[in-house]
Amino acid sequence: MTKRVVLAYSGGVDTTACIPYLRHEMGADFIVAMAADLGQGDELEPIRQKALDAGADVSVVVDAKERFVTEFGFPAVRANALYDGQYPLSSALGRPLIGELLVETAHAYECDAVAHGCTGKGNDQVRLDLTVALLDSSLEIMAPAREWSFSRSETIAYSEKYGIEPHVTKEKPWAIDLNILGRNVEAGLIEDLTWEPTEEVWSLTTAPEAAPDAPVHVTVGFRSGTPVSVDGEQLAPLDLLARLNTLAGAHGYGRIDMLENRVVGVKSRELYEAPGMLLLIRAHQELENLTLPADVLNQKRPLEAVYSKAVYDGLWHGPLLAALNAFVGATQTTVTGEITLKLYKGGVSVAARTAERSLYRHELVTYGSDCTFDQSSAEGFIDIFSLPGRVWNKVNG
Ligand code: ARG
Repeated sequence: MTKRVVLAYSGGVDTTACIPYLRHEMGADFIVAMAADLGQGDELEPIRQKALDAGADVSVVVDAKERFVTEFGFPAVRANALYDGQYPLSSALGRPLIGELLVETAHAYECDAVAHGCTGKGNDQVRLDLTVALLDSSLEIMAPAREWSFSRSETIAYSEKYGIEPHVTKEKPWAIDLNILGRNVEAGLIEDLTWEPTEEVWSLTTAPEAAPDAPVHVTVGFRSGTPVSVDGEQLAPLDLLARLNTLAGAHGYGRIDMLENRVVGVKSRELYEAPGMLLLIRAHQELENLTLPADVLNQKRPLEAVYSKAVYDGLWHGPLLAALNAFVGATQTTVTGEITLKLYKGGVSVAARTAERSLYRHELVTYGSDCTFDQSSAEGFIDIFSLPGRVWNKVNG
């Protein structure tokens, strides 16, 4: 029986070495390399060719940018998803999509296995494996980099043995993962918790101290919780996010330096730049504050943390997220309106809020003479509201 495998391919040293490794050490007869374009900005035709040069039988590139933003990025905004309260899951959200694409490609090329180049220490292997297991449990999962114990130079030597030119660019003192939702930098120098990142670590954001001296206002429009416009101009999802990444990044907004609790039990230090996603979430939270009643907000906020953890853990296709998405979806029908944010030297503040279905009623809250709030009901309300406490005190002294 021939073994047909589709490999998630990035063009990097490790996934390239996976191609001969799958064939010569793991028994693959037919290898499809699949590169997903999630907006990482790489030129993909050379990457497609590189997989063929390394021995893949077929090499495909899938443009999944729009799908990434609409099916993953914007739902995460509706959920205000921030893992550990900070990280907008830019890398994490990419993996269930890559997993979906692996399964779709496996079906298209009649493969019986999928493969990836993740090591055994990170979150990404968990997310990819879980996604494939939940979408098509009949597919075998092959992870060469979890099996080999190559050092960097051994990986290169192994590739060279099979005629693969290493193409090693000058090695950076850290590892980068980039897509349209954000950029992650980890490992190397960043592992030293006392090392303060130097400017060369960052690439999507200007240093706050070097950002323009004049603030900028930006108005984000939402329809039922989904971002639809910037400064009154309707934009396609991808353009909208790209526009906000550039604008907010230029004002030094969107940097995160955090300690992160990985699925595999270790703490790691991670740097992120996600100006557009963080801006969208900030605006969306504010629009919810204006359009959702307090009791709904009080239930939704803690569930957002549950949602974020489930995404982080790779459970995108599991029943918990399906249930949470149903809840989030039910809360979003009235979340339509515009929020203006002011960006200034790395900071953001809310400058204006408008919504057709605003629950902020001026006539109820104003101290002016036109107030319709009936103060005469307050005394009786407080009497009953204080009743349980008064009973408690009477019984317990
Ligand atoms: N630690 C982050 C996360 O788990 C980023 C992972 C980035 N992946 C990578 N292969 N560098 O979401």
